[in-house]
Amino acid sequence: MSRIPKAEYARRRKALMAQMVPNSIAILPAAAVAIRNRDVEHVYRQDSDFQYLSGFPEPEAVIALIPGREHGEYVMFCRERNPERELWDGLRAGQEGAVRDFGADDAFPIADIDEILPGLIEGRERVYSAMGSNPEFDRRLMDWINVIRSKARLGAQPPNEFVALDHLLHDMRLYKSAAEVKVMRTAAEISAKAHVRAMQACRPGLHEYSLEAELDYAFRQGGAKMPAYGSIVAAGRNGCILHYQQNDAPLKEGDLVLIDAGCEIDCYASDITRTFPVSGRFSPEQKAIYELVLSAQAAAFAEIAPGKHWNHAHEATVRVITEGLVELGLLKGDVQALIESEAYRAFYMHRAGHWLGMDVHDVGDYKVGGEWRVLEPGMALTVEPGIYIAADNESVAKKWRGIGIRIEDDVVVTRQGCEILTSGVPRTVAEIEALMHDARQASL
Ligand code: GLY
Ligand code: MN
Ligand code: MN
Repeated sequence: MSRIPKAEYARRRKALMAQMVPNSIAILPAAAVAIRNRDVEHVYRQDSDFQYLSGFPEPEAVIALIPGREHGEYVMFCRERNPERELWDGLRAGQEGAVRDFGADDAFPIADIDEILPGLIEGRERVYSAMGSNPEFDRRLMDWINVIRSKARLGAQPPNEFVALDHLLHDMRLYKSAAEVKVMRTAAEISAKAHVRAMQACRPGLHEYSLEAELDYAFRQGGAKMPAYGSIVAAGRNGCILHYQQNDAPLKEGDLVLIDAGCEIDCYASDITRTFPVSGRFSPEQKAIYELVLSAQAAAFAEIAPGKHWNHAHEATVRVITEGLVELGLLKGDVQALIESEAYRAFYMHRAGHWLGMDVHDVGDYKVGGEWRVLEPGMALTVEPGIYIAADNESVAKKWRGIGIRIEDDVVVTRQGCEILTSGVPRTVAEIEALMHDARQASL
């Protein structure tokens, strides 16, 4: 069972229905099971929107929200109980469970959806769905609509308006409740422990996958079913590949290793990056770049509070990084001019963060009416500046080349500023070196 209370799912459904126009219906499908190869399936992950509204963990399900429907506003279609299948694949809630445990007002076998759903849509003026994100489901929805249209001569009234559900639902998902923040804190704490474990285990001669194994171990020990995204363990110049996933290179003395990894708890993501020396001690160049990224991150934290807008934090990182690169001689010229020409993008080519929630790059608009979104309590985001000096960048002195550093933490906007969820993993040079030193001493 999900850590989000049943009453909260009911509140979410009510809040969504309150925003729907009268005489409308919202229809959402569960995620399909994804095949990995032949008859092997990927670990099942529920669709985030579906999970947000239902907490229902099974595939082959559809929910319909029908504000004002006399026989119940919340209708679920799901698999029937089946002792033979349950023996092989695990328990199913069935229709009884959908009502008893998941708050459905009415539940029907998914096998009957073609007979029943057109009747629920019929007479509704507007249909809300996640149009465009699931072509197979879009097609089925149109089939149901066509069933109603084919009966128009008998007086059936097909809907006239089809509206993307995303805007309403994704705006709700952007504001995290206390229960959601609690789950995200848990995910962040488990991920922080995993990063600590990887730092402690790191030795020259191991491989990137050796550290990935430490992360996976800690995630599973913490109760996470899986990482929130493919873990990045990037040693040496691989740290300059932003979404590196190969994770099979050796860890060499003198190199840094960048780990970007976070687990998922009850479909809520965490997303942490730390960069540390394989040997346990930063070289002077590594330290200089590291501390620059760290001060950019500190400047960004200071810009995260209600009333600040989304881009303030990014702008702060750009300023600090550009100034620092000029000081170190990696960029030459006037700081303001370099910011305006975006010269920093040769070293810092991504944004300072993204919304975080059920999806690692979570939903929610970054601009409203053409203006950057103003931060409000409950919004969760990452803060992840980085500097990446390509190994073949001949415009900088050789000693800098191949250094790739990112530092990433997860925060929630509070009434006064922000809460950092991921402080359980060391961030400063001194803290990281001390942790790695202690781990080595302990293993002697
Ligand atoms: N792990 C992907 C990101 O940091 O955005
Ligand atoms: Mn991120
Ligand atoms: Mn990340």
